[in-house]
Amino acid sequence: MYETIKQTADFIKEKTSLRPRVAIVLGSGLGNLSSKIDVEVSLEYKDIPNFPVSTVVGHEGRLIFGRLKGTEVLAMQGRFHYYEGYSMQQVVFPIRVMKFLGVEHLLLSNASGGMNPDFEIGDLMIITDHINLMGTNPLIGSNDERIGPRFPDMSEPYNKSLIDEVKTIARKNGIRYQTGTYAGISGPTFETPAEYKYIRTLGADAVGMSTVPENIAANHAGIKVFAISVITDLGIDGRIVEISHEDVIEAAKQSEPKLTLIFSELSGKL
Ligand code: HPA
Repeated sequence: MYETIKQTADFIKEKTSLRPRVAIVLGSGLGNLSSKIDVEVSLEYKDIPNFPVSTVVGHEGRLIFGRLKGTEVLAMQGRFHYYEGYSMQQVVFPIRVMKFLGVEHLLLSNASGGMNPDFEIGDLMIITDHINLMGTNPLIGSNDERIGPRFPDMSEPYNKSLIDEVKTIARKNGIRYQTGTYAGISGPTFETPAEYKYIRTLGADAVGMSTVPENIAANHAGIKVFAISVITDLGIDGRIVEISHEDVIEAAKQSEPKLTLIFSELSGKL
């Protein structure tokens, strides 16, 4: 594992002289942020050794190196989801490569269903904590102490200073935000009404199919994480309507400018 990650990181290091300390993962419908990056190098996932290969036709996957508000960043346009059939090790492989590239801050975004009755479609939710309901964990298996500890602490899974920084940015720019706990489920089914109710009862404010594995791998490797959800639909009793992936993408796109502003400003400060 260690050698595989190193081989990939070494390959990437040869392709660019940039050594970003900030990495960004762009969620469903949120890929447009990359247009704000002064791109130096763009690598297709399929051309990167050991990177998981997308089995989904037309699935975009690109690793972008450039500058955002003057700060060197690495952005993943397209992520790997557990429901696609990748192993958890494959899902988090890029995060481990990031560590080897020198990344210290990871900014994650996703689309999710809101279960907190105060939420509206289009809201941004700063993730303050998560509940892993994926039924597995990316750290299951033998542990390599060179990457991180066997039993990682998770007392501050989402970095408090980064959260405070984003709250300040949002206030300054008049962006409404929510805060809350994200529940990670495997998908690919959206929730039944009873499942939304159940997950809400557990203490979650939003639910989605990503972010938790990446967060765990990042914490394991000592990378500080900030994550934000765009609420694209509601799992609230009486307000649940039929949804499709297209609806989720469309709702995420509507809120994208707010997210882009937040990630740009935050990157500029890191
Ligand atoms: N549930 C799970 N994943 C999601 C949802 C949802 O309601 N919306 C966007 N991603």
